[in-house]
Amino acid sequence: MSSILVLSGSPSATSRTAALAEHLADRLRREGHRVRTVRVRDLPAQALLTGDARNPEIAEVIDALAKADGVVVASPVYKAAYSGVLKTLLDLLPQFALADKVVLPVVTGGSPAHVLALDYALRPVLSSLGAHHIVPGWFVLDRHIEPTEVGDVLLAPESAEPLYGVVDGFSVALAALHARRSLVEAS
Ligand SMILES: Cc1cc2nc3c(=O)[nH]c(=O)nc-3n(C[C@H](O)[C@H](O)[C@H](O)COP(=O)(O)O)c2cc1C
Repeated sequence: MSSILVLSGSPSATSRTAALAEHLADRLRREGHRVRTVRVRDLPAQALLTGDARNPEIAEVIDALAKADGVVVASPVYKAAYSGVLKTLLDLLPQFALADKVVLPVVTGGSPAHVLALDYALRPVLSSLGAHHIVPGWFVLDRHIEPTEVGDVLLAPESAEPLYGVVDGFSVALAALHARRSLVEAS
């Protein structure tokens, strides 16, 4: 069992990205992982905008991230990149906050023309935070995510299948991380 932090970075109160992130968190919980979700928009805005990493709520999330084995980073595509809200938190993380973690990037967007925002915008910033193991992620079209009345989402099959595939890959990578750690401890 792994400890996973799921970050979602939309400013929207009715965010499809956040609903999708919760959906993926539930899927990972059913696989036996311990999962916590954090919406960056719920963190103190003043602290995010003034770069105050010592704010207790921000510091607590940074600490939870440090303790996690895996991190899912979910963002909407805004202006051909990840959201500014997500960046306000990423900017407060220690330089190598994602070292030794398995990282799964997921983005949602309105146009397939911006599918590469995942690899050209989000992936490099995750690398710069020390992530050596970023598994393949997925871009989900917003119209493929239908929020339900009970707070879950229905996914169009053409998005569900590849998305669940990358989530399974994330789980496999986490298992490999545990196996490596056990080997190191035993040696
Ligand atoms: C300010 C803004 C900028 C956007 N820019 C893009 C864009 O450049 N490319 C794209 O594919 N979609 C763009 N979209 C669409 C969103 O990425 C898409 O609807 C996403 O699923 C919204 O996620 P959310 O509900 O979690 O905020 C934009 C939406 C907004 C509100």
